[in-house]
Order: sequence, then structure tokens, then C-alpha cells
Amino acid sequence: MKVLIVGDGARENALAKSLSLESSNEIFALSSYINPGIKEIVDSTKGKYFLGEITPEQVREVISRVNPDMGVIGPEDPLFRGVSDEFRKEGIPAFGASKKNARIEESKVWARWLMWKYEIPGRLRYKAFSTMEEAAKFISEYGGSLAVKPAGQAGGKGVKVIADIQAYLSKDKRQAMAKSVNEIGSYYNKEGEPKIIVEEKVDGPEYTLHVLSDGNTIMPLPLAQDYKNAYQDGIGPETGGMGSVSGPGFLLPFINQDEYDETFEIVKRTVSAVEKETGESYTGVIAGQMMLTGLWGPTVIEYYSRFGDPEASAIIPRIQDFGDLVVRTATGHLSGAKLKVDERPSLVWAVSPLGYPLDRKLASGHRISIDLPKVREIGCDVFFGSVALEGSFLVTKGSRALELVCLGDFEESKRRLLKSMSFIDSDVKLIYRTDIGSTIQEQAEKAEIVRYTYTSRKSRGTLGVSADWSPNGGLW
Ligand code: GLY
Repeated sequence: MKVLIVGDGARENALAKSLSLESSNEIFALSSYINPGIKEIVDSTKGKYFLGEITPEQVREVISRVNPDMGVIGPEDPLFRGVSDEFRKEGIPAFGASKKNARIEESKVWARWLMWKYEIPGRLRYKAFSTMEEAAKFISEYGGSLAVKPAGQAGGKGVKVIADIQAYLSKDKRQAMAKSVNEIGSYYNKEGEPKIIVEEKVDGPEYTLHVLSDGNTIMPLPLAQDYKNAYQDGIGPETGGMGSVSGPGFLLPFINQDEYDETFEIVKRTVSAVEKETGESYTGVIAGQMMLTGLWGPTVIEYYSRFGDPEASAIIPRIQDFGDLVVRTATGHLSGAKLKVDERPSLVWAVSPLGYPLDRKLASGHRISIDLPKVREIGCDVFFGSVALEGSFLVTKGSRALELVCLGDFEESKRRLLKSMSFIDSDVKLIYRTDIGSTIQEQAEKAEIVRYTYTSRKSRGTLGVSADWSPNGGLW
């Protein structure tokens, strides 16, 4: 089968690898640069690599040249632009949400609206604003903790919170926040859509549940958690994720089976609600990026219409024959498929050049080398991210260059990952976090506290009930 993969990062490398394990698959790729990991797979399966901008027009052109049997779309932006629809228009099955369905990720306001309309548990109160002035007025008059975000997917950029309500500081804090709405709103600017969303602020450990959906059958995957901050111990600016963990089994050590089941129920109801609103079946992967909160228990922070990255690097290697599940998802044959998960947890470290995420220019254009056979000998694998094969050199593109993954207990994996790092070299300082997976105990303690709160609420029938003062709206 000829499979055309669209996208250029570590997530697409992980997807391509899983698909290449079925020996009759030929892998073709369309990327904006030559990803060395994807290239190795394309060459070994006798496919072809196409370089170009990932636009619907370019995808149409590559489809006409390759005539693929299936498309796999990795990143969100092509989904928002209708790239999956380009495959389906030609009668080619695609693994990837349609443009209409990807709105669940693209518009945070639509996602919240949908949750309220369909009374999906784990929903937060929110207000959407089309002008910065209205948003600033609301924020400066509001009386509780809140999160202020761009109203649509902006790669995690621009999110700000007022994390507490100390009376003597709250006025100053609210005014400072009101002043920053112009910056927050600048990250999402879509004609006719709100610019800012304000949500009640919640706290607790975060985790992600990815669910495959073929339009009829849905299949939940093992949980994962990504580590957002750039530097060790959760310090520094937020990134797309500097590492991730998954397992053991389907859970994470701080999330129990009931919470997993409730999270699955939330995502399942979301898929039905999306399909009902758009009239299109949801085909691909959807993820609930969750927080365990005292307010609800499992609570939705946002949805992804694709795999999280680096979450994909932690989940995919743990699933046997994952490529087959991707094919079954795209072609509507998920029913009856078996999900075989390696019980061992996985640990992923992202490696990025100094400069990421704040100064992409500084982080770009550096040579980086890796002794792949040595890393594989240690028992780890590597997915290539923001790094291009230029001639015989690997050159950084400004974001997370490599994702290293190891299966096994965290201590052992950490030892192997540290050793793997000695086989990676660069002319720029490389940033990576050796504390990924080491905060599990802390998170378990935090989870116990919120678990006590939400189970007490549940027994009193007050799940999801909060009462902050909102201007003009009385109690929010
Ligand atoms: N790791 C977060 C994301 O993929 O958006």
C-alpha cells in the first residue's frame, strides 16, 4: 500500500515508522524540509520524498503524482486548512480530521460552546471576546482567578493566568492582565471569530488521552503526559513539550482507572457532539488535554485534532502493530481490532538547540550529529523533529531537534537516555531535561488532594459548581 505522510516532525517520524513495519507499505512524504528520520523510512520502503509547503494545493499536486492508497496527516495546521479533505475528495482514505471536525482544536471558543451545549462533564466556564477592549474591561472588573488565552489554537502561545485572589493585590494584578490583552489577542486573528477567551482557572496534574476514531468505532490509547517548560524542574518558558511519559499500562501512576474511564467518556461524547454539529464522521485521532481538578475530577483544558508531540513519541512505540490501527482508522475498519500495549512505561526526552523556544533564529542553522547505531544499541530509539538533512549534515531548524525514547522503568530509561546523550554532538549548546518522569511522586500527592475534593463534591452533587463574581453577569 502506498501511504503519503504529510508533515515534518518527530510525530510524523513516529507515525511513518509504525506504518513502515508492515513490509508491503511504501512510505511517501510531503514535508517542508528533509527530515532525516522520515527520509530513512521513505528510502528503505522505496517511496519518494516531496519537499514543499504543506498547503491543500501542494498536497493535491503530490496526490496526483503519487496516487497513494492512503494519507496520514500529522500536524494541526494542515488539518485546519482541509488537507484531509483533499485526500477524501479523491476517494483516498485519510488518517486525519476533516477541516470542519478539526475546529474542535482550532477554536477554543467552539470547543467550550460544544461542551456546554451537550453538557459534557469537565467543562469550564468561559467568555469569548471579539475586541480587546471588552476583554480588558471584563478582566479588570472580574473577581476571581482566571486564565486568559487566544481564542484559537496558537501553539500554546499567549496564555496568561491570574492564579490567586489575594485581595490586596488583586486589583493591580487584574489591571496588569487587562493591559496584556493586546498581546494575548495577537496570537489568534481569524476574520469574524472571537480573539480572546477567558476561562475560570483550575489547578491539578495534567495528562492527555488520545482516542482513535474511524467514524463508527472509537479506541482509547494509553495516557501520556508532556512536560511543557523549557528547563529542568519546570522552569522557563512554555514549549510544545520538552519530554513526555506514558504508562505503565494504560494509566499514569497518578491517574486511576475510574478517572481514565471518565476521561474516555468525555472524549467519546465530544466526538459524537462534533459529528452531530458538523454532519461529518470523525476519522483520525482526537485528544483530550486534561487536568485532574477539584472542580470536576477529569477536566478538559483543550482538545487536539491530532497527536500531541512529544506525546506521540511516548505512546506509539508502546503499541504493537500501530501502523495497522492507523490504516484501520482511515479505512473505517477499527471495529474488532485489538490494541496490544507494552506494559512497560516509556520516557521521552526532547533535545533542542539553545534559543528554543524564545529565539528561533538563534536555535536555527546549527550542525548536530548523532550516532544512531550506538543509541539503538543502548535500547533507545530516536525520532527526528526540527532538523533537516542538508547534504550529509543535519542542521537545526529552530525547534526541538530530536526526541529520544526508551521503554522500561524510569530510572533505567533515564540512565540509558543519559548515555545516549553522549552520542549526540552539536556546535550549539543542547537543551534537554533530565527530570522528565521524576516528578511522578509529587504529582501523585497533588492528585490525592484534588481527588479528595472532587469526590467530596460528587457526593454532595456540586461537581462543576463554582461561584465567582462576574461583572454584569452576577455569579458566573
Ligand atoms: N505537546 C503539546 C502539543 O502537541 O500541542
